[in-house]
Amino acid sequence: MRAVRAFASRTDVTAPVPFATLVQGASRGIGLELARQMLERDRDVFRGKSHGGVVVATCRDPDNADGLKELQKAHGDRLRVLRVDAKDEASMKAAAATVEREFGRLDFMANVSAVLSEGKMRPETSIARTEAENMVESYRVNALGPTMMMKHFSPLMLKTAELNLAGNAHVPVIANWSARVSSIGDNALGGWHSYRASKTALNQLTRNCSIEFARKKHPIIAMCVHPGTVDTKLSEPFKKNVPADKLFTPEYAVTRLLEVIGGATLEHSGNLYDYAGEKIDW
Ligand SMILES: NC(=O)c1ccc[n+]([C@@H]2O[C@H](COP(=O)([O-])OP(=O)(O)OC[C@H]3O[C@@H](n4cnc5c(N)ncnc54)[C@H](OP(=O)(O)O)[C@@H]3O)[C@@H](O)[C@H]2O)c1
Repeated sequence: MRAVRAFASRTDVTAPVPFATLVQGASRGIGLELARQMLERDRDVFRGKSHGGVVVATCRDPDNADGLKELQKAHGDRLRVLRVDAKDEASMKAAAATVEREFGRLDFMANVSAVLSEGKMRPETSIARTEAENMVESYRVNALGPTMMMKHFSPLMLKTAELNLAGNAHVPVIANWSARVSSIGDNALGGWHSYRASKTALNQLTRNCSIEFARKKHPIIAMCVHPGTVDTKLSEPFKKNVPADKLFTPEYAVTRLLEVIGGATLEHSGNLYDYAGEKIDW
């Protein structure tokens, strides 16, 4: 943990500090790919400001996060893996205390984790198939998870916003992974009650927080993003109906979204954007 200790011992907060990213839900799929790209492509994302930065990757079970272990072998001290469960606020509080102690602040936080099918939970094809328990589970993981992350980590991002006054111009960004199906205006198909509604709630909670963060003297951005249909465990049961050119690899989706997030301004705050940078109406 050589590099970590070097950052932790920094006392002059006006001096340039390494770009710090947090990816919540990084064990696999899009989150793992995002952690990889932030480590490997850091010269060409966030207009190069992330170069040489550190990545905090969180997951429920670090001991069994094989993808993160592989990244750790390649990147050592630049990757810090911490345990966070989206349903366990205490795990977030503990992780935020660790990030504050070791890095002092955060530049970019991506809340990526979500559930669509887990255990006996399946996306509902009719109201008859809804189960209150599954609806609550979706809401807890998909809407409350990112919201509690914003509660515990936004103070560290507001610190970055203050530092930027010292000439390191860049507005810190919170990106919450939503989905096009969250849009009420776009909903022509119905179904997927729990997942859709949980992501709609996430959009509202992100908009609410973005208003609060924009009122700060040194604001931060809070936005939602849609990655497209991406070939991961989450989409596995549904991908057979997706045309090949509409089923993205995690690499492609993350590359496109990093263009959108890395180029975001306060105008993007409180809104939902897709991988092509198109705003999706609520
Ligand atoms: N794939 C798509 O087509 C698509 C489309 C639109 C939006 N999205 C959104 O993109 C994001 C990433 O999806 P993905 O496709 O990468 O899904 P994925 O491969 O199924 O990965 C989901 C991630 O969420 C984590 N997770 C689940 N419950 C958790 C909890 N309680 N606490 C912490 N982490 C938890 C999983 O960790 P474990 O390993 O611990 O289970 C895993 O890392 C999601 O927000 C999803 O809604 C995906």
